[in-house]
Amino acid sequence: MTNRIGVFDSGVGGLTVLKALVKKMPNEKFYYFGDTKNIPYGIKTPAEIANLSVNAYKKLKDLGIKLLVIGCNTATVHGLAAIEEVADIPVIGVIEPGVMAAKENACKNILILATEATINSGLIQSLLRKEIQDVSIEGVGAPDMVLAVENGNSKNEKGKEVVDRYLNEIEISPDCVMLSCTHFPALEDFIVNYFDSINNPIKIINPAEKAAELAFDRLMEMEQLETKGEGEIDYFTSGDLDKFINSGNLVLSGDLIIERARNL
Ligand code: DGL
Repeated sequence: MTNRIGVFDSGVGGLTVLKALVKKMPNEKFYYFGDTKNIPYGIKTPAEIANLSVNAYKKLKDLGIKLLVIGCNTATVHGLAAIEEVADIPVIGVIEPGVMAAKENACKNILILATEATINSGLIQSLLRKEIQDVSIEGVGAPDMVLAVENGNSKNEKGKEVVDRYLNEIEISPDCVMLSCTHFPALEDFIVNYFDSINNPIKIINPAEKAAELAFDRLMEMEQLETKGEGEIDYFTSGDLDKFINSGNLVLSGDLIIERARNL
C-alpha cells in the first residue's frame, strides 16, 4: 500500500506533528514510527542521527508511503539531506516551517527550546537571522524535557519541575518561544504558565501546523491528496509497546487515541 503518509520521530514527540497532519488531512492514512529504542537522538552525533533517520525512512518506505514527514527537529537538522539522497518520495521536515511561523508572527526576541544537537547545529538561529531583521535569539538545549515527555511525565509535577528548571536559567525576555523539539508541545501549558507567572507574555511557535500545510500543498501538487474515505493511523515503535502507548496517549491528550502499537 503506497497511499499512506509516513511520520517518524525518535519517540512520542512526533505525535504532536501527527495531530496537526490529521487535523489538516482527516481523510489520509498514516504510519507513525517512534524509534524509542534509539531515543534520545538529541545527544547523538550528526552522523549517528543521519543514520537513524535514513533507517527510519527505509522502514516506513518498506511499509509503503507516498510522502514522508520528519516529525523531529533533530532528525530534520541532521538527517533530512541524508534521507533526500536515498528517497524517491517527497520529504518534509519541521525546521523550515518553524522559521516561517516565527516570521509570520513577527517574533523579535526568540527563545528556542530544542535538543542539544539542534541548538549546537546553529541552523535555526541562522535561518531566523536571514528571515527576521534585528532578531535576538537564545537557544536552550533541554534534554530532560524530552525524557520527561517520553517517560510519561508530561502532565504531572515532575514535568513542571523540569520545565521550570530550564526556564529559570534563561537570560532573554522572549516575545516568542519556539518549540523546536516535537516533544515540547506536550509541555506547553507548563511553559505558558511559567511566563504568565513572571508577567512576560509570549507567543508559542509550534512548527507542526505549518508543516501540515506544506504536506497538504505537496500532496495537492502530486494530485494524491485523499479527500474522501476514513482516515486511519497505524502506530509502530522500535521499543517497549506499553510505554509508547502510555506516553503517547498523554501527548495526544485525547485528540487521537493509540489503542495498539506494533514493533518495527
Ligand atoms: N523530538 C525530537 C526533536 O524534535 C528529539 C528528541 C530526542 O532527543 O530524541 O528534536
